[in-house]
Amino acid sequence: MSETAKIELDGKVFELPIITGSENEKALDISKLRGQSGYITLDRGFKNTGSCTSAITFLDGEKGILRYRGYPIEQLAENASFLEVTYLILKGELPTADQLAAFEEKIDSHTLVHEDMKRFFEAYPAKAHPMGILASMICSMSTFYPESQDPNRSEEAFELSIIRLIAKLPTLAAMVYKNTVRHPFMYPKNDLGYVENFMYMTYGMPTEEYKPDPVIASALNKLLILHADHEQNCSASTVRIVGSSQANLYASISAGISALWGPLHGGANQAVIEMLEMIKEDGGDLDKWIAKAKDKQDPFRLMGFGHRVYKNFDPRATIIKKACDDILGKLGVNDPTLEIAKRLEEVALNDEYFKARGLYPNVDFYSGIIYKAIGIPTEMFTVMFALGRLPGWIAQWKEMLDNGDPIGRPRQVYTGENERDFVALDKR
Ligand code: ACO
Repeated sequence: MSETAKIELDGKVFELPIITGSENEKALDISKLRGQSGYITLDRGFKNTGSCTSAITFLDGEKGILRYRGYPIEQLAENASFLEVTYLILKGELPTADQLAAFEEKIDSHTLVHEDMKRFFEAYPAKAHPMGILASMICSMSTFYPESQDPNRSEEAFELSIIRLIAKLPTLAAMVYKNTVRHPFMYPKNDLGYVENFMYMTYGMPTEEYKPDPVIASALNKLLILHADHEQNCSASTVRIVGSSQANLYASISAGISALWGPLHGGANQAVIEMLEMIKEDGGDLDKWIAKAKDKQDPFRLMGFGHRVYKNFDPRATIIKKACDDILGKLGVNDPTLEIAKRLEEVALNDEYFKARGLYPNVDFYSGIIYKAIGIPTEMFTVMFALGRLPGWIAQWKEMLDNGDPIGRPRQVYTGENERDFVALDKR
């Protein structure tokens, strides 16, 4: 017999099915509650609401656990390549050597973007934010591949859209970078690995030989893996909800990129560095900035601190902090912002306000320091996040379609005016 919970409303008892996940998480299924009782549930920001069932990523915020398809993030970050993790996230299993080689070959054959897309870049102002350009470029891809707009297309056509997107995002991201620094675009070099090819298109110049630095390639590979999925976060939920109207993959991912841009989500990596630099310029008085972060009248928040789900530590931040020390050591970079970051972390972790609210450094606290050390401009940081998050967004979108989830359409509790008669302009 399946478990149920009882809820009493207006003197009547209603039974709600209890859903149990594979890690024993419990949920009340309220999908029929309104039809039976007239009541809806209210949960602003979906803090306690599951929007779907999902078999992609498991995370336990209290214990600091993150697993893709069952594999711990620590093991994947240490041992796998980003494309291996991409395959895992999309298909549910780690690839064999042959499967990985075939997957890589497919990606390699789609890295070029349509030449006409180059012309879009001419129209953006010099100071255009890279995330604004990237979101537009990805949405524009749907216009070059109109068949992607057919919701009833074949499984092969779906697959082709997915491969195109994974293959072309690094090319477009590198073009966005080149546009920022006003350097010529570099065409992909398909004998290089996924990460190395991105580095070549980003740092390479037509006038000189470029060999990707393996230390930087390895750090980037790790960063991409750490960002590859994070279950129902703001951008993944956006991708699912846009896709639930049967909008095409490119439009759905473009919406995810826009959601990621905000400083409370992926945009935090840019905001962290800007904050650390501001604190440095201001003389480095950490007590002052901690006091501001705690002051409810002051809009300032410690960027890179806090997480909707992680309330003890973010396992990605632990891995990234070590990677950050490693890469700065290997590259011989002495970054004063890292010193400020470390001191800030120490002060905040010992402060009652932060302890009581479970506010710890999140993945974005250290990633920006790595990006800065490897020469990525601050405004490009969130583009790097998008590059990593792509497999997760695609897998979430595909799972939503495969599960036959209905169109996403929340309810509301209306708090506006009751019905009133229109008043003519001369009588107001
Ligand atoms: N600095 C100071 N106080 C904070 C911070 C912070 N960074 N984050 C949360 N708080 C406080 C809130 O003021 C609130 O205090 P209260 O209970 O006294 O009112 C309490 O902690 C809970 O915060 P909420 O905003 O309710 O938590 P929520 O889960 O809605 O927000 C979020 C999570 C958006 C990440 C928040 O912690 C934040 O704004 N952090 C800074 C931005 C950031 O780093 N974002 C990246 C997140 S990771 C990612 O997306 C990849």
